Amino acid sequence: MRWFCGMTLLLAVVLEVGSDVWAPRRASAQDRWNVPESAKKMKNPIRATATSIQKGKRLFAEHCAMCHGDAGKGDGPMAEALETKPADLTDRARMTLQSDGELFWKISKGNPPMPDFEGTLSTEEIWHLVNYLRALAR
Ligand code: HEC
Repeated sequence: MRWFCGMTLLLAVVLEVGSDVWAPRRASAQDRWNVPESAKKMKNPIRATATSIQKGKRLFAEHCAMCHGDAGKGDGPMAEALETKPADLTDRARMTLQSDGELFWKISKGNPPMPDFEGTLSTEEIWHLVNYLRALAR
């Protein structure tokens, strides 16, 4: 019994140390964000009506196009100067991998040089933006 407990403890230590050693390998561009699982599961409370998409479009032109470009391709006038290039939001394969909640979280929290918008925009406005991004990538 004692031997068994010792082995279990040893195994736990090995796994713990192992996860630290291997963690950097997982740091790809895709998970530069570390979006929490709970955020990914968030439901979009605003239906993607034409009105919502139109609102999102206006907000995008005002707050996002300088980096992401008018059409969302990541080629806005400020993009050139940024060390990390703005994401191409029309990349359908990449966008369909992400839930609405994930996009909402990224726009809310930002990730330098991408600014956070939770202080600037209302939650409703951010959901309109998510609806607009969905329309862009279609
Ligand atoms: C100052 C430039 C800048 C502005 C303004 C900006 N972004 Fe970004 N954005 C970035 C950069 C740079 C990235 C890439 C960061 C990364 O992927 O690590 C990014 C990434 C994103 C992503 C994640 C894409 C993905 O596939 O991971 C979304 C969504 C996004 N931006 C939406 C927006 C929206 C919506 C706005 C306006 C409300 C906005 N951004 C304003 C620079 C900007």
